[in-house]
Amino acid sequence: MKYLSFRTALVALLACGLIAACASLAFADDAAATYKSKCVMCHGPDGKGSAVGTKMGARDFTSAEVKAETDVQLTEVITKGKGKMPAYNGKLKDTEIKDLVTYIRGLAK
Ligand code: HEC
Repeated sequence: MKYLSFRTALVALLACGLIAACASLAFADDAAATYKSKCVMCHGPDGKGSAVGTKMGARDFTSAEVKAETDVQLTEVITKGKGKMPAYNGKLKDTEIKDLVTYIRGLAK
């Protein structure tokens, strides 16, 4: 009985670890996919801004100005919108927006 419950716990632990690992991988993929489907048309695949986006006033994500902004500021622009930048409040989950900020930071490296 003791042996069995230990084994069950071990299996459960392993399963949890596996699920957590898969989930974190899926998150990274999600951010890339969301960026591709919702942001690329204005911000470009490299974050430097498409022709359309640049005309609207989108700044280069890899520029010093955007790098100098805090995650909170970037999150606010995505959530509430700014100028021609659409608001994604209600369209994307908070966690998705957070992942997008991380993704944008990754483009600036
Ligand atoms: C219709 C075009 C358009 C789309 C689609 C769009 N953006 Fe933007 N975005 C803009 C423009 C224009 C600005 C500049 C706003 C301003 O400063 O007036 C901007 C600004 C930003 C900023 C602030 C950067 C800065 O200059 O400080 C972030 C972050 C951002 N966008 C992220 C996103 C993300 C993430 C998505 C996809 C979920 C997205 N944008 C989709 C046009 C767009």
